[in-house]
Amino acid sequence: MIRFKIPIFPCTFALVFLCHILSHAQKLDFVERSFKTAAPLYDSLLAKTKGNFKDYPHSLYENGEIKYLQIDEWTGGFWPGALWYMYEFTKNEKWKKAALAWTNSLESNQYNTAHHDIGFMMYCSYGNALRFVNDESYPKILLQSAKSLCQRYSPVVGSIQSWNTRKSKGDINTWRYPVIMDNMMNLELLFYASKISGDTSFRHVAIKHAEQTMKNHLRADYSSYHVVNYDPKTGKVLHKQTLQGFSDGSTWARGQAWGIYGFTTVYRETKDKRFLTTAMKMADYFIDNPNLPSDKIPYWDFNVGQAGFKPDWDYQPTKFKETPRDASAAAIASAGLLELSTFLNGKEKKKYFNAAESILKSLSSDKYLNVDQQNPYFLLKHSTGNLPSDREIDVPLIYADYYFLEALLRYRKIKQS
Ligand code: GLY
Repeated sequence: MIRFKIPIFPCTFALVFLCHILSHAQKLDFVERSFKTAAPLYDSLLAKTKGNFKDYPHSLYENGEIKYLQIDEWTGGFWPGALWYMYEFTKNEKWKKAALAWTNSLESNQYNTAHHDIGFMMYCSYGNALRFVNDESYPKILLQSAKSLCQRYSPVVGSIQSWNTRKSKGDINTWRYPVIMDNMMNLELLFYASKISGDTSFRHVAIKHAEQTMKNHLRADYSSYHVVNYDPKTGKVLHKQTLQGFSDGSTWARGQAWGIYGFTTVYRETKDKRFLTTAMKMADYFIDNPNLPSDKIPYWDFNVGQAGFKPDWDYQPTKFKETPRDASAAAIASAGLLELSTFLNGKEKKKYFNAAESILKSLSSDKYLNVDQQNPYFLLKHSTGNLPSDREIDVPLIYADYYFLEALLRYRKIKQS
């Protein structure tokens, strides 16, 4: 009889290796599940918008109809961006074809100087396209977009003006130079423009803007004001208020998420530790907040209805059975936290990575993921756009989908590295 001696060491090694692969695959299950859920939804959204590159899917009305925004409004880049992420994950050419067509539809926006949102519109679309397509017009379009954005920069204020002159909530003040936390998201476009053109002025504007935001939008506990209004002649801070948050002194969840993501981007581009610290402390405020629900998906504002926070609008708590959540804030925060974790080690790395992972697991659960096709088009449920103006409450939002897909891809990349 021939007896085989099975070497114990290689067998144990093979077993450990197999377990590792299996648990790795299990951990990535929710990524796969989310992209699989997205595919038929985006198929029907594409079919619905076929041949029409003028109406950009934004959200849903109460009657289930799609709410579209036009090319000049802030969310046009997210639909092409989401399609690029579908292509990145699946490598299916149909997503690439659609992403290209929707990206190209935004070309005229490179001259848009009506507000600060050009970074969202152009970098989420063309910025993603650059990673897959070698089209020499794209860097030029992005460079022109950066020039348009810089037209809204004032060296006196040291910031890019977000909105044109407008009244504050409740018509209390007139804002002549309002700058909002969201504007941190437009800076990535400027860093890119400096890299491709060699013109450091774009980068300079981005850094100045980030410094002013750090100085004036943050409170001692690294919670954030939504709006800071400056005197355009002197650069003096005149008002610290909110438009979309609960009250001037409260912390609007999406604003805080924009800050986590935006300061992380600025740290990536500058390696200036002040920005890393700011991103970390803003993240700590978000993830350690006693008012963050256990599933880590925030209420639309961290201070809704709390004593000491007085809204400038008619808040009627009885209108809501439960305080609405904002899945978009969670998605943005998770994408930011994942990148933040890549700049850190040990406990800190783990803290932000684990927080992002918990958020993504919640978002990919049946509560938030549109697995049962409650609507035929969007991936995430339960976002809030602008509650004080009674708009987009507990609805899908295209930017929630976009940052969720981005975060899932970031998560997969970190896990696989
Ligand atoms: N940037 C606009 C918003 O977050 O609603």
